Amino acid sequence: MNHIITKMSKTRIGIIGAGFVGLSFAVVLAQKGFQVILIDKDRKKIGKIDEKNLPFFEPKLSTYFLKSSKRIEFSYNFELLKKCEIIFITVGTPIGTNGMIDLSNVKQVGKELGKILLKSDFKPILVLKSTVIPGTSRKILKIIEDVSKKKVGKKFGFVTNPEFLREGKAIDDTENPHVIVIGGQNDAKEKIMQFYKNMYKKKIPVILTNYETAELIKYANNSFLATKISFINQIANICDNIPGANVDDVANAIGIDPRIGGLFLKAGPGYGGSCLPKDLQALISYSEKLGELPSLLKAVQKTNDHQVSKIFNVVKKQLKNLNQKKISILGLSFKEDSDDIRESVSIKLITKLIQQKSNVVVHDPMAIGNTKKIFKNKIQYSDSIPEIINESDCLIIMTPWEEYKRLNNSDFQKMKNKLIIDTRRLLKNKKIQGKYLSIGINLNENNH
Ligand code: UGA
Repeated sequence: MNHIITKMSKTRIGIIGAGFVGLSFAVVLAQKGFQVILIDKDRKKIGKIDEKNLPFFEPKLSTYFLKSSKRIEFSYNFELLKKCEIIFITVGTPIGTNGMIDLSNVKQVGKELGKILLKSDFKPILVLKSTVIPGTSRKILKIIEDVSKKKVGKKFGFVTNPEFLREGKAIDDTENPHVIVIGGQNDAKEKIMQFYKNMYKKKIPVILTNYETAELIKYANNSFLATKISFINQIANICDNIPGANVDDVANAIGIDPRIGGLFLKAGPGYGGSCLPKDLQALISYSEKLGELPSLLKAVQKTNDHQVSKIFNVVKKQLKNLNQKKISILGLSFKEDSDDIRESVSIKLITKLIQQKSNVVVHDPMAIGNTKKIFKNKIQYSDSIPEIINESDCLIIMTPWEEYKRLNNSDFQKMKNKLIIDTRRLLKNKKIQGKYLSIGINLNENNH
């Protein structure tokens, strides 16, 4: 195959899908001097992005966007991709109603790419970045070959290249990935490796493998991260029953063991977001389809689901009757530095509290807009922390935003009932007066 990857500034890159991965990748590539064409079938979304109205909050994204958007062409027109030497596919793969991964977006993209390959003579390398269950890349490849009437290798290249960026750190992770995994067809694999080597000046570990292994690596990665979190959450729950025990000391100590590693050992309300829960569920369904018992993965999921009930039960035990009690929630997004509330544990907790007719008031530096779309006027929203805390019967810290770490006793003076539940232990060293309960230290009130 005669792929020509020209000099970096001249290389034209296509990206299909303007979500977290696609948009972050587009601005980083443009910043590095590439010409980028970003395609999304959602015309409204593309129109807004073109008007510099970004669809979500992500640190550094708007700064990068403003600096580099002149090198990005935004469109819903797939035909423009004919100009590209490399085309990255970054569309979403949500969970369908049956618990299996919904591949309709990637399949549709496969058809569109097939159509333009049929009509023109360009020889791109297609790179599937979307998270897909093993076997999917070959299915998509078959769609492209059937529609284009062209064979991979001769007329186009096709590889799988999973993405590991985190929300809230999307730009940093795109600029500085910890690993590059490329699976699939040999010639194209080498070329994409070369492309990344040119793009990243420093050495990044590269794993070259086949389609299926590359696909599975992504699921193994996210499932392992989920496992670490559920593991430490279970240890935290045990700590809550041991007077004097502290989960952070346990995590710090075991994290020093290089065989364990210290990251992703922060106990809390459970993991949320659009990736860990979805990917774990997809791997469970896939294992079951294969006839393999996903017992560990299911336990990880069950442990995670348990955390929200645990927090809810503590509030109920402390306040007895939740009806008309003012319960203040600090943090709505599933993690700090994000406005994303998908699978956020905060949202699940609020739903439970509303069912008990509590008067729920919420604060978040970024995620109020998204939360309003769900709860509308069923809860109250405020951008003032003092207002949230005033006359409150119970304050629950859910997301570890920086500004919540600065809270101290003087901020809680006007609470009606000084009950503070800190699911992230942000204030654990502040000798908080009143009843201060935190996950992994004394949530069950057995100590201190
Ligand atoms: C996750 C992975 O970390 C990324 O590598 C991956 O690329 C991404 O999914 C994806 O598949 O797209 P993300 O969902 O952005 O990234 O967020 P994480 O940083 O993984 O956090 C997930 C959840 O776990 C959050 O609710 C966070 O608060 C929680 N968490 C994380 C803990 O409770 N404790 C920890 O120690 C770490």
